[in-house]
Amino acid sequence: MTGDLLVKGLHVSVEGKEILKGLSLQVNKGEVHALMGPNGSGKSTFANTLMGHPKYEVTAGDILFKGESILEKETDERARMGLFMAFQYPVAIPGLTFGSFLRAALNARLAPPTPDGNGAVPTKKGIPPKEFRDLLRSKMAMLKMDETFATRYLNDGFSGGEKKRAEILQMAILRPEIAIMDETDSGLDIDALKVVADGVNALTGQDLGVLVITHYNRILNYIKPTRVHVMIDGRIVTSGGAELAQQLEAKGYDWVREEVASR
Ligand SMILES: Nc1ncnc2c1ncn2[C@@H]1O[C@H](COP(=O)(O)OP(=O)(O)OP(=O)(O)O)[C@@H](O)[C@H]1O
Ligand SMILES: [Mg+2]
Repeated sequence: MTGDLLVKGLHVSVEGKEILKGLSLQVNKGEVHALMGPNGSGKSTFANTLMGHPKYEVTAGDILFKGESILEKETDERARMGLFMAFQYPVAIPGLTFGSFLRAALNARLAPPTPDGNGAVPTKKGIPPKEFRDLLRSKMAMLKMDETFATRYLNDGFSGGEKKRAEILQMAILRPEIAIMDETDSGLDIDALKVVADGVNALTGQDLGVLVITHYNRILNYIKPTRVHVMIDGRIVTSGGAELAQQLEAKGYDWVREEVASR
C-alpha cells in the first residue's frame, strides 16, 4: 500500500553537509504524526525538504505524495497538489495584505497545475470576491481572529501568537491534504494553543493528515497523535504512541540515545 505521504530512506545534504541520514516515514490523511527530537537533529531540514526548498539537496531516497515522486517538483507545484507547511519562522511581507495573500494563495491552489509542469498559474477565473469574503469570515470566526487581521500586512508586526494563528488560518482556507507544522505551538499562550489545536482538530478527520514538529508534549494533550517519532542525528530512531511524548518530557533524550547506542 502506498501512503498519502511516503518518505523512503531519505538522505539530505545542506551546503555539502549530510543532515538527514536515511529517514523513512508514512503519513496518511486522517492521521496526526508528531516528530520530536533535540535541537539540530534535522526536523526543520526535513520539513523544508518536503516543501522543496532549493538549499536542501536530496542525495538518496524518495518522497512520494499520493503515489507520485515529488522530488522533481517545485514548491508551488507541491502546494497545489495539497502539501502545506506552517513555518517555524513565518516571514513578514510589508505591502501585501493578509487578505489578498490568502485569496491569491487559494486561487493558485484551486488552479490545476499546467500539463507542462512549468509551475505557471493558469489564467482562470478565481474564487468570486463575495464567496471569498464569506469563507474568510467564517474561518476567522472559527479561529477567534479579529477581522481586521485580513487588512493588515502579512505577518508585519503580528505578535508571535498571531503569526501562528495566521498559519492555521491559511491552512483552513487552503484545505491541504497533508500539513507540516514546524513548531507552530512555540510561543503560544495557553488560550492561543487551544485555538490552534481546535483549528487543527476541526480540519483533520478524513481529509487531512498532519505532521506536527514540536518540543512540547502540551500541544499533544489537545491534538491526539496517532504516532510519535523521535529524530536523532537525521534519523527516526524510535516511534510510539502518545505515551512516548510524555516519557520524553519526563526523561529527556539521553535514554533514547543510550538505547540507540546499545542496539
Ligand atoms: N540552510 C542551512 N544552512 C546551513 N546549515 C543548515 C541549514 N539548515 C539546516 N542546517 C543545519 O542542519 C542541522 C539541523 O538543523 P535543523 O534546523 O533541521 O534542526 P531542528 O531539528 O529543526 O532543530 P530545532 O529543534 O532547534 O528547530 C543543524 O546543524 C543546522 O545548522
Ligand atoms: Mg527546527
